[in-house]
Amino acid sequence: MKELISKQMRSNFKHLLDIDNLTSNDISKLLENSSVMLEVINRDIKKVPTLRGKTIITLFYESSTRTRVSFEQAGKILSADVINITTSTSSTQKGESLYDTALTLQAMKPDILVIRHPHSGAPHFLANHIETSVINAGDGTHAHPTQTLLDLFTIKKQLGSIENKKVTIVGDIRYSRVARSNIWGLVKMGANVTLCAPSTLIHKKTFGPCIESENHPFNMVQIESDLLKAINGADVIMPLRLQKERQAHGHLPTLREYSRRYGISNSKMAHANPEAIVMHPGPMNEGVEIDPDVAHGRQSVIEDQVTNGVAIRMALLHSISSGNIMTPETSN
Ligand code: CP
Repeated sequence: MKELISKQMRSNFKHLLDIDNLTSNDISKLLENSSVMLEVINRDIKKVPTLRGKTIITLFYESSTRTRVSFEQAGKILSADVINITTSTSSTQKGESLYDTALTLQAMKPDILVIRHPHSGAPHFLANHIETSVINAGDGTHAHPTQTLLDLFTIKKQLGSIENKKVTIVGDIRYSRVARSNIWGLVKMGANVTLCAPSTLIHKKTFGPCIESENHPFNMVQIESDLLKAINGADVIMPLRLQKERQAHGHLPTLREYSRRYGISNSKMAHANPEAIVMHPGPMNEGVEIDPDVAHGRQSVIEDQVTNGVAIRMALLHSISSGNIMTPETSN
């Protein structure tokens, strides 16, 4: 079998817990491999034997449409066996701890465990306590690295490059794991990031105590409370959902007021670069952070993000199961 092994960017690529410990070369290589995977997704017969004999378990302690289904689809296209577990039907309902659940699943010898959990740090805890590879599919307010990879892939595909592009992220920065991981990924890849939110939904302390260093990505973003200034000349506008499930207290006077000031409408988009794209990690609350006309309009690439999410997860599953970020073999 022809094995196209390109220059290896990283050895011992066992887990993906966040973006911070990937190099820009690692990310570039994963994006390159995702293009190969996208070609497979667009075939009539979407099936290659790349991960035949491998078992992937998805363990979701929070609801999800895009992430869970795309991991399942990615694994199945690559011929892996994929087993999905949701907490509503697992022994978690009988009081079993995350640790015991993970040990139980590990005893069934899966190759990769994909976990989403409401508590920040849960995937790191598992990676420290089990032998199986762990992929973080979103943990609390902390990180969502596969969302970042698919967002980077989408920007590169739509705009040709990521470097020097102005990316404006708007909304609930404070509680958003997508914002955190995206800041890491976008800054690593040379984008200029602007964050825009009401003061109650963004704060330097939002990012934790780790931002002493001037070169930390969280110190390399612009913070702008005026939406029109934040959007001015932007190449990418990324509104975020209000993460009400994580907000301990009300942070906004009214949703209508929030939507008027921070919701992305066509009239506000007129201040962006005319070729700008609109992205949203989903799920969207149309009429709150984004108008339906924008969500489904000419500049929206939101559905492309979903397709790209399958490709990026295919590339990632392949790399993790190989232990290296290397170009996949995708012939039938
Ligand atoms: N973007 C994202 O994580 O969406 P889901 O919650 O539907 O997986």
